[in-house]
Amino acid sequence: MAESVDPDTSRLKGSETQPQAEDETVELQIFRYDPEVESKTEAHFEDFHVQPHEGMTVLDALIEARDEQDPSLTFRHSCRQGVCGSDALFINGKQRLGCKTQIDELSTPIRIEPLPHHPVVKDLVVDMDDFYERMRAVEPYFDPDDPPPGELEERKQSRENREAIKLSTRCIWCGACTSSCSIAADEDVYLGPAAINKGYRFYADEREGEDRKAKRLELLTETDGVWRCQTQFSCTTVCPQEIPLTEHIQQLKRDATKADLKFW
Ligand code: SF4
Ligand code: FES
Repeated sequence: MAESVDPDTSRLKGSETQPQAEDETVELQIFRYDPEVESKTEAHFEDFHVQPHEGMTVLDALIEARDEQDPSLTFRHSCRQGVCGSDALFINGKQRLGCKTQIDELSTPIRIEPLPHHPVVKDLVVDMDDFYERMRAVEPYFDPDDPPPGELEERKQSRENREAIKLSTRCIWCGACTSSCSIAADEDVYLGPAAINKGYRFYADEREGEDRKAKRLELLTETDGVWRCQTQFSCTTVCPQEIPLTEHIQQLKRDATKADLKFW
């Protein structure tokens, strides 16, 4: 069965119906599009049926559909354990990692689409270049002050500071948060939650010096930074690593406001 949709703009919500009985197959409605195959240049959904088993994830179901039914079905994955961030998808209307999403927790049929707000390359694979550019824009690397001449001192971090930045270090660059953000979708200049969180991770690291910290705050709070966030919490809701993205953005807003205060 085929249902036409626009590959870049249209995402149909996953229907919330009754869960499947254990002895039945599960229906997957998978987004298909291939600009290089004439019969697939119009985006559409195709139905697949897989036999569920205990612990089966959406990624397992996709692999079975590809291996057993249609080898042309294309999607990304690597680690299969929530670490590489390569299989973020739009599953039943929400950004999720395929490998961390159990099929028995979803209503059926399960609708699987590419991440919204990215150009579709083929089937479930999207072009992530724009996301990576935003991440690189915040200078995502540790940059401590030079040690005093002649000293090769270990860069120690206090237990308290490690605890403070712990959650922000967990990002796996999956892009789910930025894909869920309507501001990042409408204004391609907005850094977006993942990039701001990455900047926050280093901004809040006590091992970088005060000058670097001030420059990082400036970078993250300039026109395309934190002030564009409208506190919708969608990023925080979908992040598979449970990073409190909105909280980090709000913290940067507070710090920027304090840094701008002048007393006479
Ligand atoms: S912050 Fe969370 S949702 Fe966003 S890219 Fe990182 S891991 Fe993915
Ligand atoms: S396959 Fe690596 S995060 Fe899902």
